[in-house]
Formats: sequence, structure tokens, C-alpha cells
Amino acid sequence: MFDFTATAGLSKPELYRELLAAADALTAGESDAVANMANVAALLWEFLPDVNWTGFYRVVGDELVLGPFAGRPACIRIAMGKGVCGAAALQGETQLVPDVQAFPGHIACDGATESEIVVPVLRDGKVIAVIDCDSPVKARFDAEDAAGIEALAALLADRI
Ligand code: SME
Repeated sequence: MFDFTATAGLSKPELYRELLAAADALTAGESDAVANMANVAALLWEFLPDVNWTGFYRVVGDELVLGPFAGRPACIRIAMGKGVCGAAALQGETQLVPDVQAFPGHIACDGATESEIVVPVLRDGKVIAVIDCDSPVKARFDAEDAAGIEALAALLADRI
């Protein structure tokens, strides 16, 4: 099993390389989408410092529906275009939100959340899910987090 204590002291790009390798090892050859999302939500939770929610919303019909996650129970359904997750799903682009209070329409599932990143998972050019990571620290996520989680989304495109 992966030794999570070995991630201490890694730079962000190194941390994401390790995370990607662990996600690849855990999901390779496994066709069950729920199992793969559950393991990746847990990996994000273990690897990333200062997070209070990590997980998935899946595109189901014309809305987003809660998927596997780590953290507190969250809102179940999000309309396309609503909140940070809905914006990422509608636009097909990563949303980097340093201050959730300043994001119009942010959906507050946990009052402790101060910043957030949401990355779409695209398959054949269509958004099939989003990866959402929340933090109780303002401006917790930056371009390196975006690059790392986008690489993870690309890996998962045909595994979830
Ligand atoms: N804050 C998100 C909703 C999902 S929860 O944070 C887990 C949003 O505005 O879309």
C-alpha cells in the first residue's frame, strides 16, 4: 500500500506526479466507475494538505449528481451552470476560486470552505463529471494544482 507519510516535503508538481502514479496504479484495469472515483477521492484527501472536501459530481441528464467523495455530506444535485461545479461543467473549463465568497452563486455545502478548485473530466469532448476540491484556507489552490488535477482528470476520462 502507498506510504502517505513519504509525501512530506515534496514540491507541488512532485506531489501531483506521485498522486497521478498512485491513481493510475489503483484504477488501471478496473472498469467499475464508482470504485475508481471512490479511490481517487480518498487519494486526493490523503495527498492534499488543507482540504475539507474532495470528490466527484457526475453529469446525469441535465444536472450534476453527487458522486464518491471524502469529507462532510454535501448537496446532492446541482443544476448545470450553478455554483462553481455547475460553471466548470457548463464551460468545460477549470474553475479556480481563491475566495468562494466572491464567486457569484457559490453553493456553500460547508461554511468552513474558503477556496475551491473544480476541474471537468472530459470524454470525447464532453464533460462527464467534475472533480471538486475545497479548502478552509483562502487561495489554497493555484495553477500547479490546476495542472495536477487536470492530469488526473485526463487519466480518469475512460476509467469512470
Ligand atoms: N461549492 C460547490 C458545491 C459543491 S460542495 O462544495 C462539495 C459549488 O459551488 O459548486
